[in-house]
Amino acid sequence: MGTIAVLGAGKIGEALLSGLLQGGRDAGELLFTERHPERSAELTGRYGVRAVEVAEAAEAADVLVVAVKPQDIEPVLTELAPLVGPSSLVVSLCAGLPTALYERRLPEGTPVVRVMPNTPMVVNEAMSAISPGKYATADHLKVVEEMLACVGKVVEVPETHQDAVTALSGSGPAYFFFLVEAMIDAGILLGLPRAVAEQLIVQSAVGAAKMLAEGTEHPVILRENVTSPAGTTINAIRELEKHGVRAALLAAIEAARDRSVQLGKAHEQD
Ligand SMILES: NC(=O)c1ccc[n+]([C@@H]2O[C@H](COP(=O)([O-])OP(=O)(O)OC[C@H]3O[C@@H](n4cnc5c(N)ncnc54)[C@H](OP(=O)(O)O)[C@@H]3O)[C@@H](O)[C@H]2O)c1
Repeated sequence: MGTIAVLGAGKIGEALLSGLLQGGRDAGELLFTERHPERSAELTGRYGVRAVEVAEAAEAADVLVVAVKPQDIEPVLTELAPLVGPSSLVVSLCAGLPTALYERRLPEGTPVVRVMPNTPMVVNEAMSAISPGKYATADHLKVVEEMLACVGKVVEVPETHQDAVTALSGSGPAYFFFLVEAMIDAGILLGLPRAVAEQLIVQSAVGAAKMLAEGTEHPVILRENVTSPAGTTINAIRELEKHGVRAALLAAIEAARDRSVQLGKAHEQD
């Protein structure tokens, strides 16, 4: 895999550096770029990874991982353009940005792989979906897959599915956090101390996630197994259906997909 440079070590960039180190990568094989010297010093202190300028990153790294916010991509592309080419590998973690944008702005033949990761990367439980750009080969994909396998699970999807992936697993952890927050509030409503409500819900979420991840039963069966005739759960399910929670989720994820499409369109004319 060689040296990996993370351009923009914010939440996701830091999670990747940390996951790669935990996965056995040497700090000497990792680099990052940042805008603020204090942030660079903080990260170097925490992980022993060196902060560099983009030029040094492009020179030294075999893989350049772009992890800035989509709205900050322009200056990064301008800086990268004279520094990369067909022998580089550019990996974009930016929501909504198509590989075609990079291919237009970087020298012809520069391989680009688009990735949609998510924040559970910080606990090595990321879900990342990868898609090759037009110059990325199976070998490039393998390099990216190996890198991301250090921090979670990886799936390959056609790039046309990336907006849907962004809405589902990119933003997905936020929906679970929102649900947990609301369920803790319900515990408060029922008179439980907050700490107890939190423990009950968080451990239930961990247990349910483990059962789902085992994959031996479909989620519908798992839910039915907790739903006894005339029991408590079916009364709760009736309220969830009455309040349109299923429809709300469909609409919410569709709205997230639309926003991802919009972020990509903002760069179509560049
Ligand atoms: N967070 C998520 O859940 C998530 C999930 C999937 C994908 N992503 C994608 O991951 C990317 C990063 O998201 P994030 O949440 O990690 O954002 P973030 O915390 O804001 O991190 C971006 C970092 O890049 C730095 N930066 C901006 N322009 C730079 C430049 N020209 N050179 C060097 N550093 C630069 C920023 O510095 P400043 O502080 O100065 O702005 C910031 O530290 C986004 O494109 C997002 O779509 C995020």
